[in-house]
Amino acid sequence: MPVVKVKLGARSYPITIGTGATDKLPQLLSKVRADGRLFVIYDSRFYALHGHGLSRRLKSSVSDYTELTIPVSERLKSQRTLNQLTDFLLSEKISRSDFVLACGGGILSDLVGFAAASVLRGVRWGIVSTTLLGMVDAAIGGKTGINHRQGKNLVGAFWQPSFVTCDLNHLATLPERELMAGMGEIVKYAGLIGSRMLEDCRKFTDCDARTADGLLTRLIAQSVAYKADIVSKDETEGKLRMVLNLGHTFGHAIEKCQNYGGLRHGEAVLVGLVGAIELSRMVRKPNLAKLAEYEQIVLRHVKALPKKNLSKKELINAMATDKKRSGRSNRFILLDRPGKPVIMENISSRLVGQAVDKTLKKYLQHGG
Ligand SMILES: NC(=O)c1ccc[n+]([C@@H]2O[C@H](COP(=O)([O-])OP(=O)(O)OC[C@H]3O[C@@H](n4cnc5c(N)ncnc54)[C@H](O)[C@@H]3O)[C@@H](O)[C@H]2O)c1
Repeated sequence: MPVVKVKLGARSYPITIGTGATDKLPQLLSKVRADGRLFVIYDSRFYALHGHGLSRRLKSSVSDYTELTIPVSERLKSQRTLNQLTDFLLSEKISRSDFVLACGGGILSDLVGFAAASVLRGVRWGIVSTTLLGMVDAAIGGKTGINHRQGKNLVGAFWQPSFVTCDLNHLATLPERELMAGMGEIVKYAGLIGSRMLEDCRKFTDCDARTADGLLTRLIAQSVAYKADIVSKDETEGKLRMVLNLGHTFGHAIEKCQNYGGLRHGEAVLVGLVGAIELSRMVRKPNLAKLAEYEQIVLRHVKALPKKNLSKKELINAMATDKKRSGRSNRFILLDRPGKPVIMENISSRLVGQAVDKTLKKYLQHGG
């Protein structure tokens, strides 16, 4: 089973990927906790589908087990839910030798990670990541946090987990759109990594995602290894980590225009990748043939997206207030070819407008 390591000195940790990865939990837990208690926080939807078996196994391997189940949504990724979590942990008299385990997708791990970072000024934690987007993105790198009325993920902390597991058995119950949202991020990594991963992505579009375990494990492992390497070199997003935002300047703007209730994050990133490719053609001198090959893979995934109304003007306005802007200028991650990302700032609004136009046309032409 592939194990990828995030290398951060004494805070290094393993990410175990594969069908049955949660079988490794007793072993992983015995390495990170001595005799403290185990607090397990479950996403309620995940618990209804897989939680009973998992909690039975955990209870049989640790002596002091406490669990809590909470519902998740972007609206509930809030100060209020964070308070409920910290109230629960403190009323249960959590101590700094205890361990918190988050079992769910990106919303749950962001919330639980932030609670673990804040309670008693930091308690160790781990993640059983249960969505495809969680596995390839949210569970890696230690960004934790909640939404604020002024925007998404505006309050939070860097707090690295002690381990992550990505068990493909859990993906069997994931709704189709959540799977597609995860694929958006995987296709992004293929753009960052290049030919090695493009071939696997191409093969994957030709088969049934739910039965191609081996190929999916490889795609997840390649994505995780790329992010783990970047995080190991630039934990708090000085510069290098920014490349992970390929497709995100357009993607965030799409999510914002739809008030976070339209395309899912990873779906918006897929459309954003089309934008990044268009802009790369305009402002770089890319390898056009290789970029076209990548675009074909992106568009094959765009085909599966629902068609939503998007206005060019609103998109451009939303980009102007993106939180990842650099001061007053815009910032885009572009590609000279798949595998060669570049960070570009201050691109003229005329060119950005043209790229938005072309992107919207392609989305409407190819979207489902
Ligand atoms: N911390 C980071 O670095 C980072 C990176 C990317 C995204 N994020 C955050 O992640 C969040 C999105 O995460 P997500 O896409 O995992 O969404 P999510 O956590 O909302 O999960 C998606 C849906 O799937 C359900 N679910 C979870 N596991 C399931 C399973 N195995 N079977 C069936 N249903 C299941 C959930 O209850 C939910 O309804 C966003 O809030 C985003 O800001 C964080």
